[in-house]
Amino acid sequence: MKHTLLLILLVCSTHAFAQNDPYLGIIPAPVSVTKNVGEFKFNPETIILVDTPDNRAVRYFNDYLKKSGYVNTVVDINRVDRKNYSLKNTITLSLNFKGDLPAEGYKLQINGQQVILEGRGAGLFYGIQTLIQMIHGTSPGYANIPCAIIKDYPRFPYRGMHLDVARHFFDVPFIKRYLDLMAAYKLNNFHWHLTDDQGWRIEIKKYPKLTEVGSNRAQTKIGRAAGVDSDLYDNTPYGGFYTQDQVQDIIHYAEDRYINIVPEIEMPGHSLAAITAYPELSCDPSKAYKVRETWGVSDDVLCPTEETFKMIDDILREVMELFPGKYIHIGGDECPKIAWKKSDFCRRLISDQNLNDENGLQSYFIGRIEKFVNSQGRQIIGWDEILEGGLAPNATVMSWRGEGGGIAAAQLGHDVIMTPGSGGLYFDHAQSKSPQEPLTIGGNAPLAKTYAYDPVPAALTSEQQKHIIGVQANVWTEYMTTPSKVEYMILPRMFALSEVAWTPKGNKDYKNFSQQRVTKHLAKLDAEGYDYRVPIAYGSDDTTISGDKINVVLSPPVDGAKIYYTIDGYNPRETDLEYKTPLLFTPPEHKSIHLKTISITPSGKRSIVSDIKMGN
Ligand code: ACM
Repeated sequence: MKHTLLLILLVCSTHAFAQNDPYLGIIPAPVSVTKNVGEFKFNPETIILVDTPDNRAVRYFNDYLKKSGYVNTVVDINRVDRKNYSLKNTITLSLNFKGDLPAEGYKLQINGQQVILEGRGAGLFYGIQTLIQMIHGTSPGYANIPCAIIKDYPRFPYRGMHLDVARHFFDVPFIKRYLDLMAAYKLNNFHWHLTDDQGWRIEIKKYPKLTEVGSNRAQTKIGRAAGVDSDLYDNTPYGGFYTQDQVQDIIHYAEDRYINIVPEIEMPGHSLAAITAYPELSCDPSKAYKVRETWGVSDDVLCPTEETFKMIDDILREVMELFPGKYIHIGGDECPKIAWKKSDFCRRLISDQNLNDENGLQSYFIGRIEKFVNSQGRQIIGWDEILEGGLAPNATVMSWRGEGGGIAAAQLGHDVIMTPGSGGLYFDHAQSKSPQEPLTIGGNAPLAKTYAYDPVPAALTSEQQKHIIGVQANVWTEYMTTPSKVEYMILPRMFALSEVAWTPKGNKDYKNFSQQRVTKHLAKLDAEGYDYRVPIAYGSDDTTISGDKINVVLSPPVDGAKIYYTIDGYNPRETDLEYKTPLLFTPPEHKSIHLKTISITPSGKRSIVSDIKMGN
């Protein structure tokens, strides 16, 4: 990529723009923000007036205030004579609003005297999230909130984050931390990938071996899948699962944050952990199975026998007793057909059921499961492979192999959730092409790519577009062994996802998002002890700039971060020159100078090193 001085001028003008953020730092950018002059001064005398004191959103706000050092009195306005309350210095939280609000919508009015937040259902909770983002503390118990009127509601009803806990297991406190992040960014569906070849992670009382056996693997591949990086294994047992009590605790925690959990029980592929526990689920029960120790997909899959269907129905019955949501995700992706092709039973079944082939058998499998799930009053979601061989009548499709599956499903009148890796929604992909990135599965999904994704394909008619109910990012954890690494991989891309899912398309503006708002949110995360990927300084993209006099203007990727640089070819560190004002370089004729930068945040987190080649 060649950039010219024009780029530098653009960077300059962006800096001036930073004084004037039209979205007041809020992520995801609201539908409408009208800024007014002045501030509401939140202090210990501010009264919180509420009309639904037991509401989850109100409880959440109370907890937030207590945790943040506020001591304000909360008053139930139904129990007092309102005339005794001046509205001066009050914050009103109300579900009893006049006028119209779209689903999950809210209206937030802030003036110098009072704050009024009205919300519809979850909208009150989302308004509270916006309000919390606007509270800039001056000292404990005191804050200034800028005067504004905000009207807001989501673009899509399904706004999801997925987490694979099978490849690596993440404990209850971390799942709660993940849900906290989702809630703060108005994401409302947690897709919990609970089972796979490498581990079964949910207690099922009727089949205890699923966790006794299936939650443990003897060792784990080091690095990428066997044959790619090395054949080394760590020679260390690995395991973990959630008891049903823990699952219930997490479900309640999520409910308090208006988050639905979509549990995923994978079938008929990605099932080796279950097969290891109960080999009768396979087409060859005589074979010795073990929970998979490397990545990739096992050829051993569930056999579509009556015994298997009975067991899955029993498992799903327990899952549905735990999870109250409408959707049960049944997987359906990447099911190799090798074991079915070898099986006399499967050949007979294909013939008896008048199916074309093994793809038809996969549809038969999913169709049987759907019938059962529907009979219990729920709906299935499956990965887009469930289209192959015929789509189950009521299924919702998650389109992950690009948008083709989603487009086909919407054209057939099925609901669709878009999660394409090609759209920057696979958060296991690297965040830049630099070799300095940590181990990932590969790919390149930088923040800008995630941000630019539009879940509604132009190929659909406006009627068909209504079937795109939402969007989700997927977090596969083969190469995420720790909670910190998960945080590093999802942040700041989750901010971009929240804006893709919530913000009207016309309000999206990457420069404003990344340079004026992400910088503030990362500073907050930095102070709160989250891990995240520190972007490189704005204006320091790896590039070549030509010219006799080169002016470089940089801005920090995180508020409060320092930028250090070198021109000697070495990687900069905090012992090098600190960037303070624009830099002017005059490279010698026919020679180039490399400007390398690193950004280091207040907590000490470091960006990768960027490299601009400047010359004539
Ligand atoms: C998937 O990434 N296999 C759904």
